[in-house]
Amino acid sequence: MPEPEAPDDTVSERSDLMEKVVGLCKRRGFIFQSAEIYGGFRSTYDYGPLGVNMLRNVKDLWWESMVQRRDDVVGLDAAVLSPPAVWAASGHLATFTDPLVDCMNCHQRWREDKIDGVCPACGSTEFTEARAFNLMFKTHAGPLEDEGAVAYLRPETAQGMFINFLNVLQSTRKKPPFGIAQVGKSFRNEITPQNFVFRTREFEQMEMEYFVPPAEAQRWFEYWLDHRFRWYLDLGIPDDQLRLRHHEASELSHYSSGTADVEFLFPWGWDELEGIANRSDFDLKAHAAASGEKLEYYDQTANERYVPHVIEPAAGATRTMMAFLLAAYTEDQVGGEARTLLKLDPRLAPYQVGVLPLSKKDTLEPLARQVLGMLQPHFMCDYDTTQSIGKRYRRQDEVGTPWCVTIDFDSLEDDAVTVRDRDTTEQVRVPIAGLLDELRHRMDAVQA
Ligand code: GAP
Repeated sequence: MPEPEAPDDTVSERSDLMEKVVGLCKRRGFIFQSAEIYGGFRSTYDYGPLGVNMLRNVKDLWWESMVQRRDDVVGLDAAVLSPPAVWAASGHLATFTDPLVDCMNCHQRWREDKIDGVCPACGSTEFTEARAFNLMFKTHAGPLEDEGAVAYLRPETAQGMFINFLNVLQSTRKKPPFGIAQVGKSFRNEITPQNFVFRTREFEQMEMEYFVPPAEAQRWFEYWLDHRFRWYLDLGIPDDQLRLRHHEASELSHYSSGTADVEFLFPWGWDELEGIANRSDFDLKAHAAASGEKLEYYDQTANERYVPHVIEPAAGATRTMMAFLLAAYTEDQVGGEARTLLKLDPRLAPYQVGVLPLSKKDTLEPLARQVLGMLQPHFMCDYDTTQSIGKRYRRQDEVGTPWCVTIDFDSLEDDAVTVRDRDTTEQVRVPIAGLLDELRHRMDAVQA
């Protein structure tokens, strides 16, 4: 059986946390700079073998909570490309802008509202007049690059839900209150993308539009604030790093009659993870007026037609993944040696189980592969045979694998393996026949 270990104090510091997490993401295959071999493409990122697992977990856990476990919310996967009419009606063509200024000294471009009147590059306080810069990516659909072929990459997934309101209503026979949920890529030509994957030009959103009778809007707004806030806590964001902040009237978007943000304590301070907005009947009315379709609900019992109001929880999947990584990053000591670990909730971790034959000798391989084959249908597993068992444990700790299963020479005799816990480093011997149940039991305990 491998040597037992025991962790000492936690010694992680927040000051250089960002640098450490960015370094770990690259070194261990979570997130790479896009087009790196060509010098990198600013503000775009590629998700590596571990990052793609984790991002998928973030999105699946959102889907489970918002769609799978409910009978009042259905899913949608709408197109990324859409015609200008959609964005004219939604208000994005006219108002989805940031104030752009040029520094008169070094000629760099900035978002006026982010720089406090001083150029971050050269310190100058002289700028051009601010002009409205539309954040949507414009392209052309088809072989002609003329005005009639203009299309936009969606800057949010939300409009896909509004323009499919009637399709969903008629095909599912849902009635308010009900929601349409979507997860997918959105694109914004941000003037100052920054802070790793916090603000990028291509990112993933997880949004839900909840259609309610107008009189119930405030009650559902409060319901979704609470529901969404608890989702982050449940998945391991500590409560002293999470808060709800209600917007001042001056901050509200053009469509909103009330918004609150779920904020996380990032290394640079509190910042937004998700916005929950009471969008009133703005969107359905705007699309009804522009398209000529009646976007209403007919309540047969009350014999009345009305335009539902909308409550929208709008989260960023990529930004949320970054918050989970920052919150999970931990340094401690095991047996006097420093170790780095990601204390990720097992549901979020890229791998749930590391399967590790104690030695590379051929004698352990068949049993180790048999164990791997037994676990793979149920858990995302990593199979690692290289270097000492201590080094392999450290590697699994560093990427957040909650449990390691070690197959040693005794396993050939007693048909048992060692299960090691990432956080406590505690090891227990488990019969192979009961291993799946043991790991399922540990996973269930997390979800309870
Ligand atoms: N439909 C409403 C809407 O899109 P938003 O506050 O602009 O609202 C929702 O976006 C969420 O999408 C944000 O809270 C954030 O998590 C994520 N998000 C927005 N812009 C982003 C960007 N440039 N990079 C990464 N995530 C972004």
